[in-house]
Amino acid sequence: MTDAPLSPSGDVPPDAWSGVHRGPLRVGEWVRLVDGKGRKHNFELVEGKRFFSNKGHLEHDELIGREEGFTVTSSAGGEYLVFRPLLSEFVVSMPRGAAVVYPKDSAQIIAMADIFPGAHVVEAGVGSGALTCSLLRAVGPHGRVSSYERREEFADVARRNVTQFFGGDHPAWRLTLGDLAEELPASGERCDRIILDMLAPWDCLDAAADALLPGGIVCAYVATTTQLSKFVEAVRVHGGFTEPAPWESLVRDWHVEGLAVRPGHKMIGHTAFLVTARRMAPGERAPLKKRRPAPGAYGPDYSGPRPPGVPDTPAED
Ligand SMILES: C[S@@+](CC[C@H](N)C(=O)[O-])C[C@H]1O[C@@H](n2cnc3c(N)ncnc32)[C@H](O)[C@@H]1O
Repeated sequence: MTDAPLSPSGDVPPDAWSGVHRGPLRVGEWVRLVDGKGRKHNFELVEGKRFFSNKGHLEHDELIGREEGFTVTSSAGGEYLVFRPLLSEFVVSMPRGAAVVYPKDSAQIIAMADIFPGAHVVEAGVGSGALTCSLLRAVGPHGRVSSYERREEFADVARRNVTQFFGGDHPAWRLTLGDLAEELPASGERCDRIILDMLAPWDCLDAAADALLPGGIVCAYVATTTQLSKFVEAVRVHGGFTEPAPWESLVRDWHVEGLAVRPGHKMIGHTAFLVTARRMAPGERAPLKKRRPAPGAYGPDYSGPRPPGVPDTPAED
């Protein structure tokens, strides 16, 4: 955390790369206004500028210089709560190129892919840079996040978002334009963790396996069950990883008011599935699963990759 000035020019101390700022609100920072109905407005503070809503307007100058956590009233009587956005709020309101990893899933990735201070993490694709912000915050200024993105327009969006969030060029971040399957082997980099958020993560599995240090973790974030199946089977077929662990996370808000204590009516029903597996040491293979596959699991209708030990023709049950 820092009390240092906001810094496109790099005057934030290197141990302060959290994206969190304290002290009075400053020109160039983003604020988040929430009205009585929970509607959110995010904007950058600019001297002399006005914010307009259906409740009239507010002068930015009324906000600049105040400690966050206050309410202001607009010209037509609208009341707004004013805070700096949290990381989880920033990533769902920032400009998007591709779909972002939602905060509930970033939290799972940080915990279950075991992202730690000082880690060297590779990720692809960078998309809008939402996951990148969480990874950078977790590895800190002495770690390294190497992001790969094959679409230039998305890389540009991500660069703007990440720079905006951290208030400058994060010293641990390197962004490479190109396909991870080609660029990662060419870079020769070795890493502790690899996060794949893309349509076809199985295409990057060989490159991931070669770059991961023994004991490292590959983690894929996939939106559909068909992708989930293909990735899990591809990891098994590769043989250089432990048995993959697939899961999803569901988060439900609760309404708590007097005796009315119940789940909320709305929730984000589906974002994506997660899978992790650990890299074995070179030449080592994980023991085969002892259990027989479920009847029909690899039956005549199954056309994907077959893990070692699974015959081509399904055994009679
Ligand atoms: C869903 S978006 C990633 C979102 C990002 N994780 C975020 O939180 O903002 C998927 C991105 O992967 C990129 N992509 C797909 N395959 C890739 C590959 N093999 N190498 C690099 N980027 C890839 C796409 O261009 C797209 O921008």
